[in-house]
Amino acid sequence: MKCIILAGGLGSRLGPCTLSLSKQILPVYDKPMIYYSLSLALLAGLREILIISSPDHLPFYQKLFGNGQEFGLSLSYVQQNAPRGIAEAFILGEDFLAGQRACLILGDNIFYGHGLTDILQQAVQEVHNGARVFGYAVPSPREYGVLVFDKQGRAVGIEEKPKQPKSKYAVPGLYFFDKTVVERAKRLQPSARGELEITELNNSYIREGKLSVHLLGRGFAWFDTGNPDNLLDAANFIASVERNQGIKISCIEEIAFKNGWMSKEMLEKRCDKLKNSQYGQYLLSVLSESIASV
Ligand code: DAU
Repeated sequence: MKCIILAGGLGSRLGPCTLSLSKQILPVYDKPMIYYSLSLALLAGLREILIISSPDHLPFYQKLFGNGQEFGLSLSYVQQNAPRGIAEAFILGEDFLAGQRACLILGDNIFYGHGLTDILQQAVQEVHNGARVFGYAVPSPREYGVLVFDKQGRAVGIEEKPKQPKSKYAVPGLYFFDKTVVERAKRLQPSARGELEITELNNSYIREGKLSVHLLGRGFAWFDTGNPDNLLDAANFIASVERNQGIKISCIEEIAFKNGWMSKEMLEKRCDKLKNSQYGQYLLSVLSESIASV
């Protein structure tokens, strides 16, 4: 399975911050927003990753991550010339996927919770003939794709930003798909707002009884950081957990190092590059703990 991170769009709800910057490069407390989605790929065990963004913004990500070698990853990049919908990621990513299964992560989504790594790895193992999405209870579901259940509690549909949501379960921007995803994306028609909708792609699986839904319980935090309030809430949450526990959430170097994808020498180089920051000091602690445990 390969992973696509979608980091395009106009970010217009975060204007003026996004007039000259890409939304997913904005900081969420101590690291760029895209670190949080990238970390999910790493936790899932996926190291072949495609980042899609607009022509103006792609260079930001290329500067941030290069070809991924520094982190033991293989990163590639593709432009999305206009925000024609989330499902367009699979058409743009067809060559990259080369017939493999796909995980798609929206670059403005943040997840945190106990057991997340297992849930991600389970999806990679289990999704071969179908798709998997997640459900997360929110107070205002109408801003999202919303799950519809039948009386037996089976998911029978997803509605995109419904005026009258039929459940409180939003579908977060983290999706796992089988190999048929590219062909399905190609068959989609643009919606009334002119986009290839991820919700329609998911509904194509539901109609065939091939979509599994994993509901995330109270132990999880999920943020879509698309507007200033959500962005601030996410930053406060991350800061609070990190300061209370003395850990860093979504530290990609730490995950890559623990996965065995970064060597001590590679981590030392990152420590050196970032040594003036709190983040760099944390990397140094990860390095010294690993030396102490030898
Ligand atoms: O966050 C989860 C929600 O994301 C889902 O519940 C919805 O079903 C899904 O449609 C999406 O809703 P949003 O209103 O958040 O979509 P938005 O247009 O803001 O796009 C989400 C991210 O994807 C955002 O960071 C921009 C990026 N994007 C979006 C589009 C439409 C692209 O890179 N290219 C695009 O063409």
